[in-house]
Amino acid sequence: MTVIRGATTISADEPDAIRCAVKELLEQIESRNSLKRDEIVSIVFSSTSDIHSFYPAKAAREAGFASCSLFSAQEPDIDGGLALCIRAMLFVERNFTPRHVYLRGARVLRKDIAQKYNIAIDGPAGSGKSTIAKLLANDLGILYLDTGAMYRACALAALRAGVDISDEAAVILLMRSVCVNVTYEGGVQHTLLGTEDVTGLIREPEVSKAASAISRHESVRMKMAEMQREIAGKMSCVLDGRDIGTFVLPDADFKFFLTASPEVRARRRYDEFAAKGRAVDFEALKRDIIARDEQDSTRAIAPLKKADDAVMIDTSDMTVEEVLAALKNKMQEKI
Ligand code: DC
Repeated sequence: MTVIRGATTISADEPDAIRCAVKELLEQIESRNSLKRDEIVSIVFSSTSDIHSFYPAKAAREAGFASCSLFSAQEPDIDGGLALCIRAMLFVERNFTPRHVYLRGARVLRKDIAQKYNIAIDGPAGSGKSTIAKLLANDLGILYLDTGAMYRACALAALRAGVDISDEAAVILLMRSVCVNVTYEGGVQHTLLGTEDVTGLIREPEVSKAASAISRHESVRMKMAEMQREIAGKMSCVLDGRDIGTFVLPDADFKFFLTASPEVRARRRYDEFAAKGRAVDFEALKRDIIARDEQDSTRAIAPLKKADDAVMIDTSDMTVEEVLAALKNKMQEKI
């Protein structure tokens, strides 16, 4: 069963305006969700208290939605609420990701559709953040910013320059000349060091370790956080990292903290390497992940930590689809 939501407004409380708005809303919901009419089990309408002249359920029946059960109710009068608004909830006998439809000014009911918004997804390595962040961004048609890639690029610059990452002064000096940039090709993030595309190189295990070490330095964090805020300030995006909900965007519209057992996280990384034909030692990988967690969560500045208002999801025993659905449900609840 899938539930699709929709809303629309009318300009005056008149039967024809209600007929027309309800027909348009239901037809839009049908076409945007590729519904067959006989899949609709039931439609529940609610309308604001300034609508009296006609039942939306009757308008639906007249528009040809006659084989499902229909129900209309009136909402209480809420100060500051939308005027002359009709909401619908369709129950459909099939499982899919619904596309909710908001027409004629009712779009303001949907913060995510109507205006710029940011989603913060934090968590340790291998918790599923980047997989979920990418899918969610793609689903919502917004940008995905992988902030870990930016720290990885700084680490690669340090490794190449032979800089001792534990030497604060040397890192400060390095950061004056390091130029990290992100670009997008077909919605896929590319991380640049100067003009060089280092997207593939920064995934090497030694870069992972160095990224965790270099990200402890204030000079690195401040520079990266500023870039991240600038990008998030311009457009809707999903950002994944360690400190997005706590430090980079403490006012993010939606915040999640994903986690999973070290065993599961190491297994996911192991499988990723195996898929690329790379043989790695599972136990060594697990030790690295645990060491990285420890380093990331105990650093003084913006450590890996769940924001108080973030929703925590343990992904250990969940499929990717289940995690994605859980995030989307939580977002729906908040809208
Ligand atoms: O998400 P990742 O594994 O690509 O991140 C690499 C390292 O970068 C991670 O161990 C800690 C650091 N990092 C950070 O400190 N803050 C972020 N927002 C993202 C990553």
